[in-house]
Amino acid sequence: MGDIRSNASRDDATSGRGAGLPTGGAPLWAQGVEKSYEGRAVLCGVTLEIQAGERVALMGPSGSGKTTLLNCLGGVDRADRGSVRVGGCALEALDDAGLARMRREKTGTVFQFFHLLPTLSAYENVELPLQLLGVSLAERRERVGSLLARVGVEHRAGARPAQLSGGEQQRVALARAMVHRPGLLLADEPTGNLDSVNGAKVLELLRELSDETGTTLLLVTHSSEAAAICHRRVMLRDGRVEGSSTAPV
Ligand SMILES: Nc1ncnc2c1ncn2[C@@H]1O[C@H](COP(=O)(O)OP(=O)(O)OP(=O)(O)O)[C@@H](O)[C@H]1O
Ligand SMILES: [Mg+2]
Repeated sequence: MGDIRSNASRDDATSGRGAGLPTGGAPLWAQGVEKSYEGRAVLCGVTLEIQAGERVALMGPSGSGKTTLLNCLGGVDRADRGSVRVGGCALEALDDAGLARMRREKTGTVFQFFHLLPTLSAYENVELPLQLLGVSLAERRERVGSLLARVGVEHRAGARPAQLSGGEQQRVALARAMVHRPGLLLADEPTGNLDSVNGAKVLELLRELSDETGTTLLLVTHSSEAAAICHRRVMLRDGRVEGSSTAPV
């Protein structure tokens, strides 16, 4: 398991072993992002900028490219063309190790289908990002315990993902994405598997967290309740930004 501090003497920000990734700039800035799968264009030149502490809902029909865009913006996948900067860090300039480091340090991601590690317990899944950042055992215990309680799954801390309901997995995935207090949180339909009561709790938590810590949030959603916690909505259609609105949903 890596410890970024042990690599701090290596001055190569592109390799993932460098002294420091660039900082500053907007939490998220993207220009002309294009992505094709099997020769079919899925993203056709997306340009987007999100300010510190801003919450943006990314909406659009199924298949319009929301997950693909989130993956390209969060460094989970690479755009074919265009430029993406996360906290001043140009993703296209990073090699794979640098990209992994950028994700670890600057972003938290809630995947549409969770992607929890199946062999780890709920607690261990949430603890992992802190371990990768070299956070002490005492602080890990405090932060993981309080966050699991906040998302309402502390009683299932010892369970593996396969032993959890879809909604419980969703909440563990949310805790994992938030535990290291990232500057940018990317969440792909984080209430898609929750009943309305738990969905409302998760939305309240997202809103509180971004208010408390200034975390910038890009939230993919089909739900007007989720969009309502955001300052702005961006509509994606056929891989293009169709419009942006700050009007009430
Ligand atoms: N790995 C892949 N290989 C080939 N095609 C893909 C791949 N990933 C996504 N696609 C295609 O790209 C298009 C956009 O997919 P994407 O998952 O980004 O849509 P979405 O807007 O997130 O949809 P949903 O609301 O259903 O989650 C779809 O037509 C999908 O079939
Ligand atoms: Mg999707």
